[in-house]
Amino acid sequence: MSDLVYGDVTTVAIPTVVTERLTLRAIRAGDLDASAAMWADPKFMEYLGGPADRQSAWRNIMQSLGHWALWGYGLWTVVENATGDVVGRAGLWNEPGWPGVEAAWFIASSRWGRGYAPEAAEASIRFAFDNVGVDRVVSVIDADNAKSVRVAGKVGETRDHTEFLHGKHQVVYAITRDEWEAAQGRGAT
Ligand SMILES: CC(C)(COP(=O)(O)OP(=O)(O)OC[C@H]1O[C@@H](n2cnc3c(N)ncnc32)[C@H](O)[C@@H]1OP(=O)(O)O)[C@@H](O)C(=O)NCCC(=O)NCCS
Repeated sequence: MSDLVYGDVTTVAIPTVVTERLTLRAIRAGDLDASAAMWADPKFMEYLGGPADRQSAWRNIMQSLGHWALWGYGLWTVVENATGDVVGRAGLWNEPGWPGVEAAWFIASSRWGRGYAPEAAEASIRFAFDNVGVDRVVSVIDADNAKSVRVAGKVGETRDHTEFLHGKHQVVYAITRDEWEAAQGRGAT
């Protein structure tokens, strides 16, 4: 891909972002147990290829940390401020052939329905507009994943187009910088 820049980032300091109820911090090796529990959960993995083993969870940790080193942004571990528990993964994602810088969200099923995904997503989108320099953020969502489609709507993303990605047709939701800033001006969080 002509727009990829290779080798310009070799180390990266991963920032911590604190929201009202969550802390987004760098992924650590010690997150393996919490990650493996999510990866093994059929409800969590319903639209992510089905339950996966501990080795897959570990490889995903390595992949997600490597993403930061390659791009300078990536996914964080989501920690619940009230308990200190690891409750998910959220942040930014990109790869060759992707429709743009993606805001992605993954919350453990024990914590669904509390609005954690939109809270983490808003912090991720803000980070993208403030620190990554893009003018548009996308989210790639399985059309059947109604819960995730709801999160896209809650953060102001709208359906843009469908695209064949990771072996299936997926819906690309998007929000532009102008739309995001207009929403902030209206007092949206
Ligand atoms: C999609 C996901 C991130 C939503 O996280 P969340 O923190 O629960 O988000 P919200 O609290 O805003 O809930 C979003 C919607 O999920 C649904 N939902 C919430 N709690 C639920 C539960 N316990 N059971 C089933 N559905 C539930 C509701 O439709 C809700 O919308 P509503 O608030 O209008 O009722 C979460 O379900 C998840 O991590 N799923 C597995 C990983 C995944 O698919 N990630 C997205 C990849 S594109």
